[in-house]
Amino acid sequence: MSLKLWKRTDSELKNLQGIMTVAPEMTEFFKIVCRVARTDASVLIRGETGTGKELAARALHRLSPRRDGPWQAINCATLTSEMLASELFGHIKGAFTGAIAERKGLFALANKGSLFLDEVAEISLENQARLLRVLQERMYVPVGATQAISADVRVISATNKGLREEVERGKFREDLMYRIRVVKLFLPRLVDRAGDIEALTWHFIDEFNQQGFREITGVERETMEAMLEYEWPGNIRELRNALEGAFAIGEGPVLKLIELPPEISGIGVYKSFSSYTEKDLERERILKALENNNGKKALAAEELGISRATLWRKMREHRISK
Ligand SMILES: Nc1ncnc2c1ncn2[C@@H]1O[C@H](COP(=O)(O)OP(=O)(O)OP(=O)(O)O)[C@@H](O)[C@H]1O
Ligand SMILES: [Mg+2]
Repeated sequence: MSLKLWKRTDSELKNLQGIMTVAPEMTEFFKIVCRVARTDASVLIRGETGTGKELAARALHRLSPRRDGPWQAINCATLTSEMLASELFGHIKGAFTGAIAERKGLFALANKGSLFLDEVAEISLENQARLLRVLQERMYVPVGATQAISADVRVISATNKGLREEVERGKFREDLMYRIRVVKLFLPRLVDRAGDIEALTWHFIDEFNQQGFREITGVERETMEAMLEYEWPGNIRELRNALEGAFAIGEGPVLKLIELPPEISGIGVYKSFSSYTEKDLERERILKALENNNGKKALAAEELGISRATLWRKMREHRISK
């Protein structure tokens, strides 16, 4: 059975340091990133998981006068308070059990460059006080040391929590909140970026085509329809991963519905890819087309892109009653 292909919409893909988009919702974001990059202002990037916060932080660094300086990044949620302190500010020999040698922290390693604090809302109140001092006085004291060291570091933070709420819950210092979000940037969800689900699908297809083990040149219409209907809670990361998976498990030049994860395709939730055959899929496709057209075979055949005679034959084959 011939597949109906999605007619590709060609819109101009904009690219800011790897942040790809066709969405008008991102125009303002690009503008602000370019303006703010010239300054040393602390930036807080907000957005749901997978919306590209780290990518945006890197773009800020690369577009800034600090671009030739170091870039350092840390996820504040994954370390204990003590470990984070030593990671950020370093420690002297003997500062705590196990501190057998002096260690440089990220503020030292990022000197004259930028430091990215991911999930900044998770920092303990103790480390918040330390961080506030660096941002205010550009000085910090390594763990166990007495002498303050100066730091010339641009701080970019990210969070998917509202800091204001954290302040109200007593979990985040208000003064620090103002310091780290001198500029606030917000990344919209993938579903709120008009045109991006399709445009990024083609973009990632082009990217994976480069790997050379499969070349996708078309997308089945129902595949794109399912993708456009899906909510994408994991945003751009989820889209990229879904396509990477499809490249790996499927074959041929057409991206097919069955190659997408079940939560997106809505099929095969109870069947694994391997036990789900092309035949099963064809049967489902026919049933769906008949349902869409109130059982009118001429219209269903047209939707499927096959002749009426072929539809009749296939219905017989699949024992679909007339
Ligand atoms: N606009 C975009 N164009 C191309 N790739 C993108 C875009 N936005 C994000 N990505 C890619 O999606 C993935 C997730 O991006 P990133 O790690 O920056 O998200 P995040 O907001 O930091 O997510 P999390 O909150 O889960 O840490 C990365 O592989 C990134 O390169
Ligand atoms: Mg991130």
